[in-house]
Amino acid sequence: MKKQPETEKLLEQLKVKYDAIGQDLDTQLEGLLYGEPITYWDYIQTDALLNLQIQRTTLPDEMVFIIYHQINELLFKMVLWEIEQITHHENLTAKFFSERLMRISRYFDMLTSSFNIMSEGMEIEQYLKFRNTLTPASGFQSAQYRMIEFASTDLINLIDARFRDTIDRNTPYEHALEHLYWQAAGKDYKTGKKSYLLKAFEERYKNRFIAFTKEYNSINLYATFKNLPKEVQGDPELRNAMRHYDYTVNVTWVMSHYNTAVKYLNHGKEPEEATGGSDWAKYMLPKYQKRIFFPDLWTEQELEDWGKDVE
Ligand code: HEM
Repeated sequence: MKKQPETEKLLEQLKVKYDAIGQDLDTQLEGLLYGEPITYWDYIQTDALLNLQIQRTTLPDEMVFIIYHQINELLFKMVLWEIEQITHHENLTAKFFSERLMRISRYFDMLTSSFNIMSEGMEIEQYLKFRNTLTPASGFQSAQYRMIEFASTDLINLIDARFRDTIDRNTPYEHALEHLYWQAAGKDYKTGKKSYLLKAFEERYKNRFIAFTKEYNSINLYATFKNLPKEVQGDPELRNAMRHYDYTVNVTWVMSHYNTAVKYLNHGKEPEEATGGSDWAKYMLPKYQKRIFFPDLWTEQELEDWGKDVE
């Protein structure tokens, strides 16, 4: 059989590749001879993926609840994947930054616009039954959600607004983590007593969060933006992409989630206790959390009115 010039070229490139790692090309080619061709189910791991939905009840809508949370976690992973490429990029351009940021916003737009799968897509009766089998667990314990926050902005912008003046860049990470805004969902600041929700979450992830915040301390999205040359920071497309991302994550998604919690937990006189036990009706509101990733990109008035326009 006469070898085509392309085949010749490919073989030469493969030879260079395998020589570089001290591997014999013929052995690799022979491997191809016996190797099974890849299939969709092997490549996408559909069997493993579709066996990850473990219900605790026989209520059909619990499957909707589980899968939608898993979809969120997969999209959170895509968000972190893009953030990592922006923040670890050797020679970052405004074009690359805003394009990737728009990808990330697209993922969060999808998370926000699809939240009605939760708010409209389950029976309240079924939810009020199966939720008792997952208490005290809560989406609050989504580690990737917290990592997206740590990778997006300086730690000071995630500190509970009541304690921000007492914390600066020299504050030990351990102490800073004790004053993050989300501590308020599970800690009584008078007694220091923590809920099981928060204790279990910290036991599992505290060290990983400290290592992650250290890694992103000076390369998070906000720090990366502020390190860009002034004229690049002025790029209107990039500024709009930053504002869109900030508002989508910290107001639009939060309100879709909050309205869903109201639908399922606020139908009696008193709001139902949340599975995680937080004072959710107050805690989950953007105007209360005041979580703003990129403060310099908003006017004084916009910062003042944060989250007030969506109530
Ligand atoms: C019926 C649907 C849902 C309801 C009723 C609901 C309710 C709640 C409530 C009440 C909280 C406050 C913490 C607590 O005490 O539990 C919370 C927190 C949280 N949930 Fe959900 N949730 C729902 C769906 C989801 C989904 C699909 C996700 C996606 C992963 C999610 C992610 C989160 C996160 C990240 C927090 C912490 C938010 C923060 O700290 O600001 N939730 N949820």
